[in-house]
Amino acid sequence: MAFELKPLPFPKESLGPTMSTSTLEHHHEKHHAGYVKKLNELIAGTKYASSDLESIIRATARGQGKDPTKEKTIFNNAAQVWNHDFFWESIAPNGGGSLPDPVLKRINASFGSQENFRDRFVEASVEQFGSGWAWLVSKDGKLEIVTTHDADNPLTSGQHALWTCDLWEHAYYLDYQHERAEFVKAVIEHIANWQFVGKRLVEVERDRAA
Ligand code: FE2
Repeated sequence: MAFELKPLPFPKESLGPTMSTSTLEHHHEKHHAGYVKKLNELIAGTKYASSDLESIIRATARGQGKDPTKEKTIFNNAAQVWNHDFFWESIAPNGGGSLPDPVLKRINASFGSQENFRDRFVEASVEQFGSGWAWLVSKDGKLEIVTTHDADNPLTSGQHALWTCDLWEHAYYLDYQHERAEFVKAVIEHIANWQFVGKRLVEVERDRAA
């Protein structure tokens, strides 16, 4: 069954001025939609046609099989669909601000303070060379900040994504030009969906205990 572009979980006019309506239109209706369309074209008639997104990502991550180039292209598009779905959940109108208690406790244990977490996340985002993603992940029960190149994501490295910020230029160029640090800082402070991080923490801990 073909994949569909999920609607944004918030009105596209609701994240300004941190993320403009124009950025969201391009980002969701052109870039994200493009990955969904391309993925559907690539998997039509293949063994992946009836697979779920995560299975496709895990199966194609190493670009093996008879046609490694095609496998890698399928991976890139599938992972970008997953990454964007996850990114839209990571942001929300009237976000940012104080972390919910259970999240704050974990952030403090790993990074010392919420401010230190923000600064380290921005730093890692700036250090990421070229396109990619910055993530807050849980690995073996510990929270870490990691960055990935292009479409790569934590799914294939034993890490559990808790939050993400898109570092591709299409995510910020219209609103911030080349100022990636300003973009990431504004996202964290004004539209980060910390309730989603709390929900992800519960899910990840439940899976670890199972
Ligand atoms: Fe993007």
